[in-house]
Amino acid sequence: MNDDRRTVLKAALGLGLGLALGDPARAQDPEPRRARPRPGDRLVFASGPRKGKSIRPRDLSPNGEPLTAWPMDPRTKIVRDDSRLNEILLLRLEPADLSDETRARSAEGIVAYSAVCTHTGCDVWEWHAATKTVKCPCHFSVFDPKDGARVLDGPAPRRLPALPLEVADGVLTAAGEFVGRPGFQPAG
Ligand code: FES
Repeated sequence: MNDDRRTVLKAALGLGLGLALGDPARAQDPEPRRARPRPGDRLVFASGPRKGKSIRPRDLSPNGEPLTAWPMDPRTKIVRDDSRLNEILLLRLEPADLSDETRARSAEGIVAYSAVCTHTGCDVWEWHAATKTVKCPCHFSVFDPKDGARVLDGPAPRRLPALPLEVADGVLTAAGEFVGRPGFQPAG
């Protein structure tokens, strides 16, 4: 083998080794668009004119309409929008209204839950400002976002899984994974 070919071979091996060793997270994550939200993921608008843009606390009004969001890997900028189980419901509430556990997961009064109803999986929500609750219009389950999205009424078998939040670099960021399984599998 001449020197030129040796150099090319070394470069190719080095590149391959670098790719394999340099990014273990990617190597273990063949479907990042379907992976569940991870700590450090930024939350981005799921729809509307700012779709795909990071969400700041001021984008939500206290006791105002909820927003829906997708998690985004901040490193690769990949939005995890290839599984509806990753859709996130965001609400801004008064911190004083939150249960201790919910306040601990919140950021500036903003709470995050799976946007998929635990009954049969609808993902459209009605906000009831008077009671500060969300209602699934499909079969009228009512959840209390002030208290871990526990079920107040209707056929839903379990609460909406919460997603712990923090504010990092001024934008809403996942501070953990979903607490519980998103979706409408039976409780257990
Ligand atoms: Fe939400 Fe049935 S899907 S109450």
